Amino acid sequence: MKKTVLVSGGAGFIGSHVTVELIEAGYDVVIADNFSNCDLTNYNGACAITGRKLPLVEMDFCDPEAVEKLFSDYKIDAVIHFAAFKAVGESVWEPLKYYRNNVESFINLLETAERHGGCNVLFSSSATVYGEPEELPVTEKSPRQPATSPYGNTKQICEDMLRDTVKAKPVIKGIALRYFNPIGAHPSALIGELPRGVPNNLVPFITQTAIGKRECLSIFGNDYPTEDGTCLRDYIDVVDLAKAHVYAVRRMLEGKMKEDYEIFNVGTGRPVSVLELVKTFEKVNGVKLNWKYAPRRAGDVTAIWADPTIANKELGWKAERTVEETLAAAWAWEKRVAEM
Ligand code: UFG
Repeated sequence: MKKTVLVSGGAGFIGSHVTVELIEAGYDVVIADNFSNCDLTNYNGACAITGRKLPLVEMDFCDPEAVEKLFSDYKIDAVIHFAAFKAVGESVWEPLKYYRNNVESFINLLETAERHGGCNVLFSSSATVYGEPEELPVTEKSPRQPATSPYGNTKQICEDMLRDTVKAKPVIKGIALRYFNPIGAHPSALIGELPRGVPNNLVPFITQTAIGKRECLSIFGNDYPTEDGTCLRDYIDVVDLAKAHVYAVRRMLEGKMKEDYEIFNVGTGRPVSVLELVKTFEKVNGVKLNWKYAPRRAGDVTAIWADPTIANKELGWKAERTVEETLAAAWAWEKRVAEM
């Protein structure tokens, strides 16, 4: 019997890539999305790549009745929970919007899953939980630091909710994947990142500047204590990241978890500076980018990258694509968006 995976936020950037990898690995998928931060582009792209009309439920996880109906309508073997707001800056100005959406939706999901006899729950967490790390690279055992934004706090709260629920309710199993910096797009250029308004994140800002949508990229800070003075991050290809979810889901469904709640870092283990990323983008794609140094951005950590050893060993997963391949895919996607 094919297993069914519910993907909340499945029409978004990461959710659509994960959907494609799940289908290719032989799972059935139900996508649930409220389209609060995306349109149908990635859903349609995922259907085109997989050659299927993927089941789609338009709903909000903050609506407990809608979640109840979803679990009644489908036999769900595992859930991957992406549905959340993710703009760090906005979360500072609109904290309650973030707490309500990100935390309440997850409570509804866990309560409903338990009522329906339990579920394997994969939570989409973030390296933001490590804050400014004291030691690099960070392992899953590195201490979490107090969150510097409500967004980051919602990730910590949801991790804790999952941990505590798993402990109290044996029918729920959980995995939290802590993503580093997901970038890039599917090699087909049929799905990718589609931020609304001015992008907050580096790579969409780079590609939009290269295509002429933005005038100039600001590199936030060149006085950090790093080799070239710009911040270091662990940029993970979104397709590699998506594959990590398939391995994690399989681990849960095949009963291979060593503990009922597990955490994995999903990164490459390779630090790249902002300046290096910009230069690599220019080189790989043969484009000249208009950029300048600007003051540091509030809340940015100097450096963070993953020790992915545990994910490599336990999940049997490893990041494979090079930064060059990933930046070429990001550019191919931006060019395709320009034609839409
Ligand atoms: N940056 C620029 N210019 C830009 C945008 C970003 O120089 O226009 C720099 C940032 O200062 C940072 C790096 O590029 O040094 C990466 O910034 P992103 O915004 O792309 O990513 P962050 O590392 O800030 O954020 C990511 C995720 C968040 C998560 C955070 C945790 O996008 O969801 O990691 O650290 F909370």
